[in-house]
Amino acid sequence: MTGTALGAPAVRREGRQKVTGVARYAAEHPQPDRAHAWPVPATVARGRVTAVDTSAARALPGVLTVLTHENAPRIAEPDDPTLAVLRDERVPHRGWFVALVVARSPEEARAAASAVRVEYAVEDHDVTLRADHPEAYEPGTANGGHPARREYGDPDGAFATAPVRVDVSYRVPPLHNHPMEPHASTARWEGERLVVHTSSQGGTAVRATLAALFALPEDRVTVHTAHVGGGFGSKGTPRPDVVLAAMAARATGLPVTVALPRRQLPAVVGHRAPTLHRLRLGAGTDGRLTGLTHEIVTHSSRIKEFVEQAAVPARVMYATPSSRTLHRVVRLDVPSPSWMRAPGESPGMYALESAMDELAAALGMDPVRLRLLNEPEREPDSGKPFSSRHLTECLEEGARRFGWEHRDPRPRSRAEGHLLVGTGVAAATYPVLVQPSTAEARALPDGTFVVRVNATDIGTGARTVLTQVAADALGVALDRVRTEIGDSDLPSASLAGGSSGTASWGWAVHDACTALAGRLAGRTAPLPDEGVSAHADTAGRADAESPYARHAFGAHFAEVTVDSVTGEVRVRRLLGVFAAGRILNARTARSQFVGGMVMGLGMALTEGSTMDAAFGDFTESDLASYHVPAHADVPAVEAHWIDEDDAHLNPVGGKGIGEIGNVGTAAAIGNAVHHATGVRFRDLPLTPDRIL
Ligand code: MOS
Repeated sequence: MTGTALGAPAVRREGRQKVTGVARYAAEHPQPDRAHAWPVPATVARGRVTAVDTSAARALPGVLTVLTHENAPRIAEPDDPTLAVLRDERVPHRGWFVALVVARSPEEARAAASAVRVEYAVEDHDVTLRADHPEAYEPGTANGGHPARREYGDPDGAFATAPVRVDVSYRVPPLHNHPMEPHASTARWEGERLVVHTSSQGGTAVRATLAALFALPEDRVTVHTAHVGGGFGSKGTPRPDVVLAAMAARATGLPVTVALPRRQLPAVVGHRAPTLHRLRLGAGTDGRLTGLTHEIVTHSSRIKEFVEQAAVPARVMYATPSSRTLHRVVRLDVPSPSWMRAPGESPGMYALESAMDELAAALGMDPVRLRLLNEPEREPDSGKPFSSRHLTECLEEGARRFGWEHRDPRPRSRAEGHLLVGTGVAAATYPVLVQPSTAEARALPDGTFVVRVNATDIGTGARTVLTQVAADALGVALDRVRTEIGDSDLPSASLAGGSSGTASWGWAVHDACTALAGRLAGRTAPLPDEGVSAHADTAGRADAESPYARHAFGAHFAEVTVDSVTGEVRVRRLLGVFAAGRILNARTARSQFVGGMVMGLGMALTEGSTMDAAFGDFTESDLASYHVPAHADVPAVEAHWIDEDDAHLNPVGGKGIGEIGNVGTAAAIGNAVHHATGVRFRDLPLTPDRIL
């Protein structure tokens, strides 16, 4: 009736602003007298700076100053070691920033940056991850606070005695986020007040970080994040650009923009760490798992322990009486890894779902059936009941829509000329995460409403969905609600990460609007000029431990062709079915699922960074060398979902959809390549040189 119903395909509120160029991103806010800064990256893989000669750079036109560890404004020691920029002479990896040139224009800053002369004391470096690296260790926890090791039953004994066994290793290379908008920040000081525009997934955390680094109370820092051109985890935490912009603005007294060139990103905004996987699956001849072991080895940097939690999804997926899941990490002279879309699940499920396909082949069993057969009653690792789990429905509906029943299971059984054709399936899972947030809702005398929450829309449609949540709770039409987000002066909220945004902010928005509706009910007097408002805070509820295991699930089906002459793999069809709670906006949800699947397609076929052992850095640093899928690579992609009514989540009923599309896609494609060719390729990406 009102068109506000949750689930409606409402168009993005800011869509017109974005496509007409009116929406401003962090580097685009006009500032009087603004200067531009360009960082100078270290050119050695390990060592320390012994001297910096800035005289030639300073003599160039337009140059205002050159900051180094010797003269930069002092900042406190950050909690995140990757933000300790220009504090000391240490170089923990190649690409670490050792100086910053501030000039009148970006071109002048760039030219002067190349004129800064840095001398180093060079130390030997090691950037090579090996499963048997002597410095590999078992950390206390993997990311997300997950125990590094979980074990129950007798996994080794179960494997040794299993009638059907698969013992396989996979490798997922380092991957880079490469959002369309590279990281950028503009900072200015108004006396003792710091105002920044930054490209971030969460302005509340940026504010807290800047306040700590510059010894300011938080209410003297304002962080604007109105529009963000993608993040995929690389903007989940503050990055050096925002710290450098604030430093440079302090040093010069001018507003300063630091817009990182794409080629500097791989060293300083994180990457998905490479993961080496070993899986041992044991099963009876009936296909039931008797043992499941998933062990991974990954890398982190010298300055930060970051452990991609890739063995964690194996704790969720399949019923087995015996299991061991284990993470090990090696600290190398590499850039610090960080979050990348579906951290843990994305590489972990590539390996697990590929191994399940290998087990199905070893059993001579249909891979959909194998998964249905091993569905657990409860979460295998914790023993908790699932709040809802519709993986079976995803697999069955996906198989039906895809036409799986027509598949000839024999590998290499379909050819069209020199093209080998195959199909594959894989399951997906992603945890339900939710974090405390606050929000305010206000009714104005003109009959409209304003909702305020420091959420961030990184391109997902968050602004729109929150407006739908508000309109629904208020019982009014969508066009009567205005939603203000992306400003740290708004009620503070959690970040757009972990697929938790909509659930976390939506909960607070729902509560504020429900309280406001209650306050307005039965009111006959006109509203005062400033309106009537209600505030909500979900602390203590959103972060309460749940007695349920809460996860979204999904199933991917892929059809590929493999060119037997060139080795080129093309994806013809991708179809995903997801069970992710209530879908709040059909249009933006579909776009999220499809986006995740396309990223999974890239992971399968083209994306990957190579660590050059001698040079000590990634060889791919731009979109000419790091190949993300282009339109011509992306076939018909279908995303469907199962309506899921789960009362154990949050008032808006969503599980989060930002990441699950990216989980399992690569395995479905890899399994299709095996079906097409009869050969297993266990190293991603599946580039022609590997296939031939
Ligand atoms: Mo996502 S990697 O949780 O921002």
